[in-house]
Amino acid sequence: MLTGFVPTMGALHEGHLSLIRQARTDNDLVIVSIFVNPTQFGAGEDLDKYPRPLERDLDLCEAQGADIVFTPQPQDIYPSGYQTYVDPGSLAEGLCGASRPGHFRGVATVVLKLLNITVPTRAYFGMKDYQQLRIIQRMVEDLDMPTQIVPMPTVREKDGLAMSSRNAYLSAEERVAAPVLIRALRHAAQIWAHGQRDVETLKKAALEVIATEPLVRVDYVQALDPVTLRPELGPGTGLLLAGAIFIGKTRLIDNVVVNGDGAELPSAPAQ
Ligand code: PAF
Repeated sequence: MLTGFVPTMGALHEGHLSLIRQARTDNDLVIVSIFVNPTQFGAGEDLDKYPRPLERDLDLCEAQGADIVFTPQPQDIYPSGYQTYVDPGSLAEGLCGASRPGHFRGVATVVLKLLNITVPTRAYFGMKDYQQLRIIQRMVEDLDMPTQIVPMPTVREKDGLAMSSRNAYLSAEERVAAPVLIRALRHAAQIWAHGQRDVETLKKAALEVIATEPLVRVDYVQALDPVTLRPELGPGTGLLLAGAIFIGKTRLIDNVVVNGDGAELPSAPAQ
């Protein structure tokens, strides 16, 4: 029996639903987890106000054909005396790992636990959280875990904004400003497509686009090898353009992965 697993923190949107539908297509049994994982939130982040519309989420899971929705409480995952965490190594050091210390330690730990609990054949992860995806791919390989990790394309609103549970925090004015991040990353991808291979030039081009939007503060923009997440580009592996911005108090991330011709890849390249 093939089991597909979709780990989520709830507040489901079309991005999550696309993962559940793919899991439904590929497998006999589909499990979705809804767990707002406290260990991946830093002090002062949005753990307490993270949206938790459980009834709505359960209806959506059912409508997409999920068989089981696993909704543990924090004490189920981290009982009293809990001590053991996954160190995700150098893939977790840059990008969001630099801005959110300890975030990927919490992500890798909870994903390992959820995979051990559900023992799926396949687990589905969106490419919007590209660094998370690479860390999970690496963890599964390094720890000889039997689950196949299936990367899924980012689902976007009509104006290009990547779907995210945190988009709900944006005011109307902030929502209009938010797509500047994907416009900036795609602008840099165009320059890459015309042959520019200097990562600093590509970053600068993206930053110039973001600077046109006064509501936005940049956390980071990076141009990296999509496999190693390092600035030294490997031969033929293409390019990851990744960014994080603050609009008001809301932090949004996005990325594009492009091949040597500048075409956006629908999924993460193989390791
Ligand atoms: O991507 C998310 O929603 C979370 O990081 C995950 C993978 C469910 C782990 O809590």
